[in-house]
Amino acid sequence: MNDNAPSQLPESVDVLVIGAGAAGLMCAATAASRGRRVLVLDHANKVGKKILMSGGGRCNFTNLYTAPENFYSRNPHFCKSALARYTQWDFIALVEKYGIPYHEKTLGQLFCDNKSKDIVDLLLAECRAARAQIRTKCQIESIAVEQGGYRLHTSLGPVTCESLVIATGGLSIPTMGATGFGYDIARQFGLKVVSTRAALVPFTLHKKQLQQQSELPGSALAVSASCGAGGFSEQMLFTHRGLSGPAVLQISSHWHEGEAVTFDLAPGKDLGQWLLTQCADKPDTHLHNALAELWSKKLVQFFLQRQRIDSRPLKQYGERALAEIGAQLQAWTLVPAGTEGYRTAEVTLGGVDTDQVSSRTMECKQQPGLYFIGEVLDVTGWLGGYNFQWAWASGHAAGEQA
Ligand code: FDA
Repeated sequence: MNDNAPSQLPESVDVLVIGAGAAGLMCAATAASRGRRVLVLDHANKVGKKILMSGGGRCNFTNLYTAPENFYSRNPHFCKSALARYTQWDFIALVEKYGIPYHEKTLGQLFCDNKSKDIVDLLLAECRAARAQIRTKCQIESIAVEQGGYRLHTSLGPVTCESLVIATGGLSIPTMGATGFGYDIARQFGLKVVSTRAALVPFTLHKKQLQQQSELPGSALAVSASCGAGGFSEQMLFTHRGLSGPAVLQISSHWHEGEAVTFDLAPGKDLGQWLLTQCADKPDTHLHNALAELWSKKLVQFFLQRQRIDSRPLKQYGERALAEIGAQLQAWTLVPAGTEGYRTAEVTLGGVDTDQVSSRTMECKQQPGLYFIGEVLDVTGWLGGYNFQWAWASGHAAGEQA
């Protein structure tokens, strides 16, 4: 398998999977365990590159609370069937079968204790046990329909297959091998592609905004970020280019160019009421010193300047003014210049339109034997292990049928 495998491809296989990422490897192992002859082809020099770099090197491989509500798609019902038939508990059982140590970091997010490579090794072991073959450094040159299946021309030679599974992922991190290949194949077979954009991605800010926060890169605080219908309470991080951290990555999936994003800087608190209590307890304390109980001095100074609020002893404000200051700081609003784009985005929103794909098997309704799985489909998860759970679930669904 892999580098030790003979360089020539078999003449024909039952199932050919393009893309040796999370979804493709899960699909290959599942189909091969049914006795299907499976071949996985990938153009990269090694398999599972995104798994290896995920979760800061510790792969957030699933989420305890995975539910269809944690996914975006033009058809929010599409993900339900696959997620119900291969759940987070199924993948956790697999992780435990291999004795991979893991822990819950926060909000149900399960990470490897050691390294992401444990998950790649698990998938390769499953493929090996089921005798699925994998070849890397293989360019797909063309795909044509042939009686009873598909004929592919590749840089390693021709190969035919009965079922063809496209598992080539989204557009994020092109340096890791991401391409729009899956969308091109979808169009070749007459499927629609829902327009794509970078998601789970940091915001960039305008030059003036960046100058104002030049002292802050590296500073973080808990916020509740909202934009349109979306809202997330998590950490926000100031960076040299703008804003990042889980709250920002999450809300980026709801954001469109030109829209404002609002941050509640004291989530779960009535800040006006809190300031009134501080005023009753310590009337001579200056506003900036009172707020320094909540945020670092640098952050307090920044937010007061940005909102043009003078710092005076609390007793000088009066009830209404303190309530107003609280309200202002719980609705800090800005319009990002943009996002860092696919260069750093964790995922791609949009993709192959699910209308034309069976939600039970991932097979195209109009094109028998052609399957799309994982991120290439118009199904995108929240931050927190949901995207891998979708890759496992959709890969498994197709592997049971292809
Ligand atoms: P994936 O991208 O994994 O695999 C696609 C494969 O297809 C690749 O091996 C690629 O080389 C191959 N390919 C592409 N074009 C090809 C072509 N033309 N010919 C042949 N092969 C081709 N999610 C999560 O749940 N928890 C996490 O911790 C993280 N962390 C994270 C960090 C970073 C930095 C990124 C970029 C992403 C994450 N994600 C994540 C998201 C997660 O990595 C992603 O959703 C899944 O890897 C998608 O799995 P797929 O198998 O669909 O695509």
